Amino acid sequence: MRYIGNKTRLLEFIIGVLRRRGIDGGTAVDPFTGTASVARELKRQGFQVLAADIMEYAYVFGRAYVAAGRPRLSGLASAVGPDPDLDDVVRHLNHLPGEPGFIHRHFTPDGDVGARYGRMYFTPDNAARIDTVRATIQRWHDDGRIDDDAFHLLLAALIEAADRVANTTGVYASFVKTWQPNALRTLRLETPEIVHGNGCEARRTDALELLRELRPFDLLYLDPPYNTRQYPGYYHIPEIIAVGWFDGGHRLRGKTGLMPDDDRRSDWSRQGRCEEAFEELVATARWTHLVMSYNGEGIIPEPTIRRVLEEHGRKGTYKRYRQPYKRYRSDSDGENRTYSGDRVHEYLYCVDR
Ligand SMILES: C[S@@+](CC[C@H](N)C(=O)[O-])C[C@H]1O[C@@H](n2cnc3c(N)ncnc32)[C@H](O)[C@@H]1O
Repeated sequence: MRYIGNKTRLLEFIIGVLRRRGIDGGTAVDPFTGTASVARELKRQGFQVLAADIMEYAYVFGRAYVAAGRPRLSGLASAVGPDPDLDDVVRHLNHLPGEPGFIHRHFTPDGDVGARYGRMYFTPDNAARIDTVRATIQRWHDDGRIDDDAFHLLLAALIEAADRVANTTGVYASFVKTWQPNALRTLRLETPEIVHGNGCEARRTDALELLRELRPFDLLYLDPPYNTRQYPGYYHIPEIIAVGWFDGGHRLRGKTGLMPDDDRRSDWSRQGRCEEAFEELVATARWTHLVMSYNGEGIIPEPTIRRVLEEHGRKGTYKRYRQPYKRYRSDSDGENRTYSGDRVHEYLYCVDR
């Protein structure tokens, strides 16, 4: 998924650094998991992983891509066909006719609320498909026809499919005023790949709260927000799809249709607060190896990162690794921000205890 800070293209760099430092298995915690790209790769490499994040959609990704094993789909035989696998179920969902519901109503120009604000997040056809798929998997889950693993795998596939046809430039803080080519394609879920492994887990929680309660573990992989942009306001639609709208819906507000608490702000995205949060987290968590991704333009200054890690790590084990990286950029950035170029450096700060 298009996501600020998504590390998919840096996985090789991250795993390479872990190898160079001799970190090759054990328990790993990724408390800012986002799309779960790193947590999933760590699972693939044989770690027993705990993936967590404050956002519900990130919990869905963690649950689907890290915690899930073989999904139980046998309750769908009458709807989908005998002994269905995940591919069969995804194909079935892709063929369902769209039935307009919450997303259609709020996020398309054809919905009564969407029309009031001129919202063009999805074409009416795609929005109706999102509504149908979301309602169908919820019903299957509520009726006990699929288990939790299946529910989260299908929900993750829907959130990613919706993102591919969203009429945005990458974040949901605004929509484009004409239909983009990607938005005109028909919504298509893809079958998620299941990575097998044991004892992996996902949670939705604040990073510091989680790390306060965890017993000692081997690897702490940190990838906190690195700028002042707040995820709840930038990804409110994936969040709504993840949470669902089945307990009476949500009272959305503003031009973009934010949920009531979408202006909640993480300390990690606040200048002045992030340094304190970082220091407290490093001091509190009981890690043996710490590896932190941080962008060269991040709001925690490099000398602070170094000081904190050296203070809490074993002498002589601190090292910073560097990788040039083509920056994540959405068109909406261009209006407000100036860049010195498209290349930034992504760093891995490492220390051991
Ligand atoms: C840079 S992104 C992580 C990207 C991720 N590694 C990936 O590859 O997709 C930072 C993440 O931190 C999460 N976050 C922000 N504040 C948080 C907090 N207090 N506790 C836990 N997660 C938080 C955001 O929701 C976001 O997903």
